[in-house]
Amino acid sequence: MEYKNPNSTRVNPFRSLYDNVKFKSILDIKEKLPKFPFLCDIELTNHCNIRCIFCGQQAMSRPKGFMSWTVFKKVVDECAYYNAPIRFIRWGEPFLHKDIIDFCKYIKHKGLLSHITNNGVAIMETQMKQLIDLGVDSVIFSFQGASKEKYQLMRNNDLYQLLHSNIQ
Ligand SMILES: C[S@@+](CC[C@H](N)C(=O)[O-])C[C@H]1O[C@@H](n2cnc3c(N)ncnc32)[C@H](O)[C@@H]1O
Ligand code: SF4
Repeated sequence: MEYKNPNSTRVNPFRSLYDNVKFKSILDIKEKLPKFPFLCDIELTNHCNIRCIFCGQQAMSRPKGFMSWTVFKKVVDECAYYNAPIRFIRWGEPFLHKDIIDFCKYIKHKGLLSHITNNGVAIMETQMKQLIDLGVDSVIFSFQGASKEKYQLMRNNDLYQLLHSNIQ
């Protein structure tokens, strides 16, 4: 669900990308694939601080790790050449990567749109302020369960209050 601030006319710039017919048409296997992806999803780490009951993160057999600066820069530089937006998402919690803010800084320095999907209980207050100052374009806080009890069951932790205040 997309949150709309009633006091702002700002629209998440990823919205127009997701609604773009060209973006949608890459799901059609009859279409010729574009030269470069429309956007790039980066898994900064496959470590996680919680154990949601529905998530495949725990079942992964590949080694756990954190993305290096060398790999990160290589990917972002390529994306910058094609002006492809970057999202931090996949299997793990991006805010466990110690360099996440500097990575965001690098993406914005390259003039690219940036998005982060996170679980809302690893992010720190100082980081939230830095994200705003950097102009990170889009952030999703994930949670399953519309009540404290359901959240606790699905996300397998008792951090509902922390998540709530972090979002606020
Ligand atoms: C794997 S998580 C990684 C980012 C971060 N740890 C988080 O929870 O937002 C990315 C998204 O995938 C969703 N997800 C995880 N397991 C899923 C599943 N089995 N089916 C559908 N979505 C899932 C999560 O709710 C989250 O919104
Ligand atoms: S926080 Fe994200 S990566 Fe971690 S277990 Fe939950 S859904 Fe999976």
